[in-house]
Amino acid sequence: MNEAQIRRAENWLFFRRWLKSPRQLGTLAPISIKLSMLAAKEALSQYTPGTPVVEIGAGTGRLTRALLHKGVQAQDLTVVELDSEMCDFLRNSIPGIHVIEGDATHLSELLTPELLQKVGVVVSAIPLMYLKEPLRQSLIMAAFSVLRPQAKIVHVTYNPKSPLNFWKNIKQSRVAAAWFNFPPGFVWQFQV
Ligand SMILES: C[S@@+](CC[C@H](N)C(=O)[O-])C[C@H]1O[C@@H](n2cnc3c(N)ncnc32)[C@H](O)[C@@H]1O
Repeated sequence: MNEAQIRRAENWLFFRRWLKSPRQLGTLAPISIKLSMLAAKEALSQYTPGTPVVEIGAGTGRLTRALLHKGVQAQDLTVVELDSEMCDFLRNSIPGIHVIEGDATHLSELLTPELLQKVGVVVSAIPLMYLKEPLRQSLIMAAFSVLRPQAKIVHVTYNPKSPLNFWKNIKQSRVAAAWFNFPPGFVWQFQV
């Protein structure tokens, strides 16, 4: 498939799955190319080849493709996605990455033991802002549990406020904003 065909397939798959589970997907369409590139740049700011990178809530893979475009090696990239049809699409359309179907709340049980506490960054596009606060916290704690010391979580959201602003004892900073995106998109970084 060429770029345009991939975009069309992504949009169509996303819309069909959104009709089935709108809250799980959060938005009506996949992340824009511009926002995905911004998020990927932030996520890979300290990446060196050989460092495991994990994306949770990979959806149709648009952010996954941006991570590859920005230089992550496919064999370093593991993506976790709840929706089985999206997992099939990811496996068939993005060669070389590791695709895991499962709930990122159980991230440490989904990843192979060699990755635990070795992950350099977890990238998240899960729509945290539509989830109850304890569930948001569980997802982020699960991501922290697989990170190596000082590593970060990079999260994409469509609200200028952090979806974790109630959680005072982690470091949170907004590292990028795409105000002219539709809807405006923001990239947050979380660290312990
Ligand atoms: C905003 S959407 C997709 C983002 C993706 N970057 C894209 O634009 O195609 C969020 C994705 O997170 C997935 N998701 C939601 N909760 C999840 C969970 N607990 N574990 C894994 N994936 C989850 C949804 O199925 C959905 O595909």
